[in-house]
Amino acid sequence: MIPSISEIKEFLKKLSFDESSINDLIEQIEHFEKEAPERDDIVRDYLREECIETIVDEITDEILKLNKKRIKILDVAAGSGFFAERIKKKLEDNRVDVEVYGLDITPSMLKRLKDKGITPIWGVAEKIKESINIANEQYNMNVPKGFDVVLSTLAFHHFLKPEKVLKSMKDVLSNHGVVIIVDVLKHEHEELKETLKDTHFGFSLEEIKEMGSKIFNKVEARYMDVYCEVGDVIVGLYKAVFT
Ligand SMILES: C[S@@+](CC[C@H](N)C(=O)[O-])C[C@H]1O[C@@H](n2cnc3c(N)ncnc32)[C@H](O)[C@@H]1O
Repeated sequence: MIPSISEIKEFLKKLSFDESSINDLIEQIEHFEKEAPERDDIVRDYLREECIETIVDEITDEILKLNKKRIKILDVAAGSGFFAERIKKKLEDNRVDVEVYGLDITPSMLKRLKDKGITPIWGVAEKIKESINIANEQYNMNVPKGFDVVLSTLAFHHFLKPEKVLKSMKDVLSNHGVVIIVDVLKHEHEELKETLKDTHFGFSLEEIKEMGSKIFNKVEARYMDVYCEVGDVIVGLYKAVFT
């Protein structure tokens, strides 16, 4: 399913977003439409190879802790699928049978997901369940209603309403499932907001824990031993795990 911009506007209305949120979301889409062809290279540029490996290893280790032989994963705001593809491969190397779905709002990102063998779903992170209903009803897809793992990398600071995204993730989490978020820590580099189309300056561990504790029973957040380098600016990353 790769909708056109006019279909997306219709879907956003159907999902009951107001005019101002629709405009903000369209701005995100326009920015990421341009970024999509280069997204893989951009990730390699922001993060050194060892940082990429650490992120993939840490997420895979969390998923392996579930101790399941078959796993359904939803990557929210999956972008070009840079991490989803690597996590899938690593799990398969550990003899886990994986089904990976990638939800994203930007059509050109969905094309990249498809090329990487990840099932693309057009959707909005704040309304995952409703977006899946659109995919299943309008595009005859058979996307599950529940996932063992809901993850998101380098995207949480882009969301208009992060708390709503956590609630929306919980709505599609199976019993005993896990939500894993890797993203940038709070910083003060205002210049990044316009160049990267960021909505927030990242979140501190306290902020992410506080948000998560309103929605999940168990909340863990900690600094990762990796950082993101954008030009001269260096920003740290955190990992949050919610169950
Ligand atoms: C910085 S990229 C991260 C992509 C990928 N997760 C990665 O690690 O490379 C942010 C992604 O979030 C998507 N996005 C932004 N806001 C969104 C929203 N509200 N719902 C779904 N996707 C969104 C963009 O289209 C873009 O692909």
